[in-house]
Amino acid sequence: MSQSKITVLHGPNLNLLGTRQPEIYGYETLDDVNNALREKAVIAGWDVNCLQSNHEGELIDAIHAARTDGTQAIIINPAAYTHTSVAILDALNAFEGKVIEVHISNVHKRESFRHHSYVSLRADGVIAGLGTQGYQAALEAIIKSAT
Ligand code: DQA
Repeated sequence: MSQSKITVLHGPNLNLLGTRQPEIYGYETLDDVNNALREKAVIAGWDVNCLQSNHEGELIDAIHAARTDGTQAIIINPAAYTHTSVAILDALNAFEGKVIEVHISNVHKRESFRHHSYVSLRADGVIAGLGTQGYQAALEAIIKSAT
């Protein structure tokens, strides 16, 4: 039987987590976030595949790969592409599993250009403002909805 799989996608600048505007994004690094997700997922029998990219096309390629590699759900923080990328929205629309959009900060409390998300037009759930805990909440929601 193939293992249940989640693809976690992090958009531009999230490789700098821990040192990038920590007053907004906190002190946890991307490795901390990914390792915590893997630890929690493995207990529930899920495999987690994580990718960060500063390039829109690479994120789109990863979403395309998720259509056929057994991924049941995508957790995505598209970062700034949230507010600009119709191409990421289109790619997610071609993916049939669950999509949870995560933002570390509460984008609705910030500049008005961050209030609109193209990805939210596709997302089954949106989490914003819980810090890096938001990724854990997304993972829990996916695991719970599958059991
Ligand atoms: C972010 C919010 C975006 O507006 C911003 O461009 C990011 C990170 C967040 O996680 O809070 O890079 O997605």
